[in-house]
Amino acid sequence: MKWSTLKKSHKLVNEQMLLLCRFMETNAVYILGIESSCDETSASITKNGVVLSNIIASQDVHIKYGGVVPELASRAHQQQIIPVVHAAITEAGITLKNLNAIAFTRGPGLMGALLVGCSFAKSLSLALEIPLIEVNHMQAHIIGNFAKRDNEIKEIPEFPFLCLTISGGHTQLVLVNSYLDMKIIGQTLDDAAGEAFDKTAKMLILPYPGGPHIDKHAQNGNPLRYKFPTSDIAEYNFSFSGFKTAVLYFLQKEIKQDSNFIANNIDDLCASIQFTIIKTLMNKLKLAAENLNIKTIALSGGVSANSGIRDALMLEKEVSNWNVFIPNFEYCTDNAGMISLYGYYKYLAKEFCDLSISPVARYPF
Ligand code: KG4
Ligand code: ZN
Repeated sequence: MKWSTLKKSHKLVNEQMLLLCRFMETNAVYILGIESSCDETSASITKNGVVLSNIIASQDVHIKYGGVVPELASRAHQQQIIPVVHAAITEAGITLKNLNAIAFTRGPGLMGALLVGCSFAKSLSLALEIPLIEVNHMQAHIIGNFAKRDNEIKEIPEFPFLCLTISGGHTQLVLVNSYLDMKIIGQTLDDAAGEAFDKTAKMLILPYPGGPHIDKHAQNGNPLRYKFPTSDIAEYNFSFSGFKTAVLYFLQKEIKQDSNFIANNIDDLCASIQFTIIKTLMNKLKLAAENLNIKTIALSGGVSANSGIRDALMLEKEVSNWNVFIPNFEYCTDNAGMISLYGYYKYLAKEFCDLSISPVARYPF
């Protein structure tokens, strides 16, 4: 079949689906979500916006390199995508025939990794003759705040709210007006919060990814033992490069006098590093909340698993009377549950895409 005919027939499928949707509003909507932006291959099924399955296959292959190796990530996605999708369908107790649409991460992320999920989603959409929905990974992280399983009682944020998205590649402060209307009001000018954790952890000779290791040691340490600088960037933006350099120079100086300095003080070092990163994040979050007069605050992204940022938010909940929302742990780090759920809201808004779509490494809102 010629490409133009293929495109036309897919467009027809989308149009037919639109009509069907209108007549079948009351029927269940099953969305398959696919996530492959970095080093997690994940597939999820949602039914009417409730998560039925969320299968996440991590890629241990990167650990020995101390960071994600893009080519190895693409290969691992190729190996894992079919078993992961199969597991998601099986756990949800449905068959491919039940699916109403397929949502996939279009970006941002590693191009080779994104291509695997995108190509797979396009092929399956074509084969099943169901619509395709492209999803911005960073917006999906925010939507993770609405993810829940059947029978799970979970409060969800009311619009408008402020979301602090903190991951390995991004740090964004987002004004969320509705599921599909989000505006970035501040972001990092250099390293992301997760990178600040991972890079300082590397200096402390902790395994990759270092964020969870810093968190663990910090729980036994004194956060005020060592003082590192916080940045003061204009408006609601963040910067972590000066902090990172300060930690490096400090460690080099101390190690010259005591070669066991890191091992002897690991808990206090981790607690002080974590304290500084959280202070930098909280300063801007508090400023934005005050200026915009918003009391509903949410977190998203891998770093929201950090116990220190969770405690800081809970404290501010008391002090400033905030309503605080943090996704369940499985929706903090990369997962397809958030992709499937965001796909569901786009499905309701009839926001489908056609088969000529391709992934994007950078994806502004
Ligand atoms: O959102 P995510 O899974 O992947 C990206 O899209 O980047 O975030 C991964 C980041 C890593 O930098 C990791 O170190 C960090 O989240 N992270 C943590 C914790 N758990 C994961 N950082 C600090 N404390 C944690 N408990
Ligand atoms: Zn992510």
